[in-house]
Amino acid sequence: MTSGPRRPRVFVTRIIPDVGLDPIREACELDLWTDPSAPPRAELLRRARGCDGLLTLLTDRIDDELLEIAGPELKVVSNYGVGYDNIDVPACAARGVAVGNTPGALTETTADFAWTLLMAAARRLAEGEAYVKAGDWTAWGPQLLLGSDVYGATLGIVGFGRIGRAVARRAAGFGMTVLYQSRSAAPAAVEAALGAERVSLDELLERSDIVTLHCPLDQETRGLIDAAALARMKPTAVLVNTARGPVVDQAALLAALRDGAIAGAALDVTDPEPMTPDDPLLELPNCLVVPHMASASVAARGRMAEMSAANLLAGVFGRPLPTPVLSR
Ligand code: GLV
Repeated sequence: MTSGPRRPRVFVTRIIPDVGLDPIREACELDLWTDPSAPPRAELLRRARGCDGLLTLLTDRIDDELLEIAGPELKVVSNYGVGYDNIDVPACAARGVAVGNTPGALTETTADFAWTLLMAAARRLAEGEAYVKAGDWTAWGPQLLLGSDVYGATLGIVGFGRIGRAVARRAAGFGMTVLYQSRSAAPAAVEAALGAERVSLDELLERSDIVTLHCPLDQETRGLIDAAALARMKPTAVLVNTARGPVVDQAALLAALRDGAIAGAALDVTDPEPMTPDDPLLELPNCLVVPHMASASVAARGRMAEMSAANLLAGVFGRPLPTPVLSR
């Protein structure tokens, strides 16, 4: 019996769509975590040992301890997602491990969902549904569940990358004033096409009827929406978070919602995730919480699978990653 070259060993930390798993199975020695929950830390460390590549999710912390245990064969960490705050990128750089993500795969899907949440928050959708389900709907009422108009409102977009801009594009049909805050200004042509004006965060918070977050989580954005930021918002305004939970100080948000400092919030992401069932935010009627599902369309998750598999395979076979965060 002749044996061919050693097939790269990879650990894939959750079942992803077959369009991504199939090519990995064909080319690699695949270890697949099949549980619906993330692998516990000890299991992640154990399975990473000796791998050439890891396909990871935002729930897997990739830090120096893990890289050390994985060992010198590790060539690539391919994240299934656009955000990569779960990965210590400098630690990967120090060990010559490439890092990939899936930019573009979920831009429109996530922007659609930010709009789903912003309309739901402004028009109190969750409260309306709870009211009906509780059997409280006895009559049409002139003052029942009054929210704020989205049409003609001022939309404040924090973070103006791909997703923030896709959110802005949708605002054109709603006759909105669009403000954005971002570390760097978008090209003038982009601002003009989207009718978007760059302002400071303080100004955005003070003027917006709807504030929607689209920045990455990093040292600068952790806790960005704190008590002082929430205090700047209008009492009629709503906050939407489809970015990362820790961008918002959740204790401050709880106080702001309880005190009526803002009118409502819709959170796709929380801190921690999952949110515990006894979290006081879940008791507030004006806070809508869903389980980190903004990119959860069949098509987007398929694109993410294809892209993360392509990055993984390129990495283990020593080719440049198609969509690198960090090249080797
Ligand atoms: C999802 O949150 C992602 O970063 O892709």
